[in-house]
Amino acid sequence: MTLDINRLRAETPGTAHVLHLNAAGSALPSRRTLDATLDYLRLEGEIGGYEAADAKRSELDGFYPAVARLIGAQAGEIAFIENATRAWDMAFYSLDFRPGDRILTCVSEYSSNFISYLQVAKKTGAEIVVVPDDASGQIDLAALERAIDKRTRLISISHVPTQGGLVQPAEAVGKIANAAGVLYLLDACQSVGQLPVDVDAVGCDFLSVTGRKYLRGPRGTGFLYAREKTTGDIEPVFLDNHAARWTEDRGYSVVPGALRFENWERYFAGVVGLKAAVDQANELGMDAIWGRIRTLADGLRARLAEMKGVVLTDLGQLKGGIVTFAVPGADHAALKAGLRARKINVTVSTQFSSRLDLKGRGLPTVMRASVHVYNDEAEIDRFVAALGEAIHRG
Ligand SMILES: Cc1ncc(COP(=O)(O)O)c(C=O)c1O
Repeated sequence: MTLDINRLRAETPGTAHVLHLNAAGSALPSRRTLDATLDYLRLEGEIGGYEAADAKRSELDGFYPAVARLIGAQAGEIAFIENATRAWDMAFYSLDFRPGDRILTCVSEYSSNFISYLQVAKKTGAEIVVVPDDASGQIDLAALERAIDKRTRLISISHVPTQGGLVQPAEAVGKIANAAGVLYLLDACQSVGQLPVDVDAVGCDFLSVTGRKYLRGPRGTGFLYAREKTTGDIEPVFLDNHAARWTEDRGYSVVPGALRFENWERYFAGVVGLKAAVDQANELGMDAIWGRIRTLADGLRARLAEMKGVVLTDLGQLKGGIVTFAVPGADHAALKAGLRARKINVTVSTQFSSRLDLKGRGLPTVMRASVHVYNDEAEIDRFVAALGEAIHRG
């Protein structure tokens, strides 16, 4: 299916106000998603929060099959969680690590995840193993295979890092994890909504996603996928009366499926808002969305490659919609601010969010321009011209 870009732009109110190259921060939502969220909030205001949930039960319940369809899962394998970090945490902290257990991860790992490895290593005596990159900058698959031993408890990587266009070979990693019988946790925060992700093809046990980035959902939304055959053995790190039932005075039972990872109280307007965004992604089709994002990003990389004073910094064999570059000698934060003053939104990635990768490459910061389907070629032209002027002005 070919996307109708003019229509997509017309249905995205933000495109009339800003040149938004920050989908990897928080993408522009469509009017449909905005309406779904705002209408729900209004209904809560009009008839009461509990009453609104009763009235919109089928819409709320529809969240699970919609997400399941997007990633090739079962509805019972999905939990709504307020962001990707907490979704990831619910999986990671629910695994009871023992001294000597090994956690295998990648160089480009996200800071919050790595902080959690460090905390768990400190508390339990588990060991963190950072598998090196290959020459292209993606995880070295042969090194990953060699790193697995009988103490390896978990392989945990980010599919698309926060600081670049790299798309990790998540399916190849899954084959290695599955062959070794090792649990596999995939941080898909920046990939789901950007490219087709099928959990069976990936072979992951858990996958965490945020709503606001490539899915174009509201902030404060996300989800966890938890594979049915893995979940049964796992007692979540936190339980409430939604995740478990108080069945006896001194006893409880954990509910079946991924709902055990969910909270009773949650952002209901966000559930329907994220559902609207996921429905739209399903309707447009992930192949079409991915094709459009790649065309825009490859075009932008080609333009930046020709610019004097700009160095592209994206790694990997396969690159997606997050375009990063450095302007040696320039203050990236000042460049970003100058562009913002012209209503052009880009961001700056720092070692705060990915220390091992950026530090290892001697990059204190990189500039990040992340495209989505609602961007068009005229915007890429405008951005390149504005960046050129900003660099020239120094
Ligand atoms: C790779 C990766 N994982 C996790 C996160 C955290 O997502 P959230 O802010 O929804 O918790 C981010 C955010 O930038 C990210 O880039």
